[in-house]
Amino acid sequence: MSAEFQALLSGRPVLLAPMEDVSDEVFRRLCRELGAGLCYTEFVNVESLLHGDRKSLRKVRLSPEDTPTAIQVYGANPDTLCEAARVAAEARPAFIDINCGCWVPKIAGRGAGAAWLREPAKMVEMAARVVKSVSLPVTVKTRIGWGPESEMPIVDLARRLEDVGISALTVHCRTAQMRHDGTADWRWAARAQAAVKMPVVVNGDVRTGEDAVRALAETGCAAVMVGRGAVAHPWIFREARALLDGKPALPPPTPHERLDLLARHLQLNVAFRGEGNGVQCTRRHYAGYLAGVPGGAELRAELNRMPGLQPCLDRVASARESLTPRAA
Ligand SMILES: Cc1cc2nc3c(=O)[nH]c(=O)nc-3n(C[C@H](O)[C@H](O)[C@H](O)COP(=O)(O)O)c2cc1C
Repeated sequence: MSAEFQALLSGRPVLLAPMEDVSDEVFRRLCRELGAGLCYTEFVNVESLLHGDRKSLRKVRLSPEDTPTAIQVYGANPDTLCEAARVAAEARPAFIDINCGCWVPKIAGRGAGAAWLREPAKMVEMAARVVKSVSLPVTVKTRIGWGPESEMPIVDLARRLEDVGISALTVHCRTAQMRHDGTADWRWAARAQAAVKMPVVVNGDVRTGEDAVRALAETGCAAVMVGRGAVAHPWIFREARALLDGKPALPPPTPHERLDLLARHLQLNVAFRGEGNGVQCTRRHYAGYLAGVPGGAELRAELNRMPGLQPCLDRVASARESLTPRAA
């Protein structure tokens, strides 16, 4: 494992999870500013990438400031996975991550994502080939098993994946059949980390800074990954970082801070995607930003009806002005 890769996952970093339609360049930038130690792109379909699909090409384009970021790919065919990994590597990401955890029928039903968990030997063979096809480190993100195995395959898989040269493993501590329901069982990440030397990243149900500390302490994993918790509360990264660095717990963001970040997210999304799409894409983040703002639910409903940037910014500015000094 290169020293550069080792450095990425040292110091118990808090990682932004790959999330389709969420962890785009703008959200990665905001989360990184708030303390995310490493980010992942949304997953990229290998066939679409190889066919030059515009959206897929955009996903693998990384600006120089967008670092460290890993590119995640998914597919069912080892040949195209290898080829797409080579294309993705040209963007010089921190590493290439292979998605072996997506349960969604249109993906797992076609042999990609979590479907690899149904054939662990094939998953290992495929990972071995991807490792050999690029000079960058290759990692795997998967779940504890397909479900409902009595003994989850993840521990044995971790050993075998390490043997074929993957550099790290992220364990979303649910089975594929659990989708996003039920409680993530971090004990499987602990068992996987105990079985291998490479870093294991624990993922699932980390919603607060305290959860991040607990997940790392309970599992002994090298790093912790946050998905939905970052959408609900992107400040989780700095809050977790403070606790992990032995500092006092940070106060929650003020309503002013929440409104300012919402406005910035809107402006950046519009700059990156154009007005209509940029405003629309920001909507999925309003609930998180406005959770601690007095009158946030009404404000969210209003913003959701506004298609243009300037009216949204004006409305956010007026909400900011109307905060009483105490609420601000
Ligand atoms: C909207 C959404 C999109 C997701 N997209 C991806 C993806 O592209 N690649 C991936 O590996 N996992 C994806 N996931 C799963 C997350 O990366 C993560 O493993 C899962 O949400 C569990 O972590 P959490 O409890 O912190 O959210 C997605 C999850 C959500 C909610």
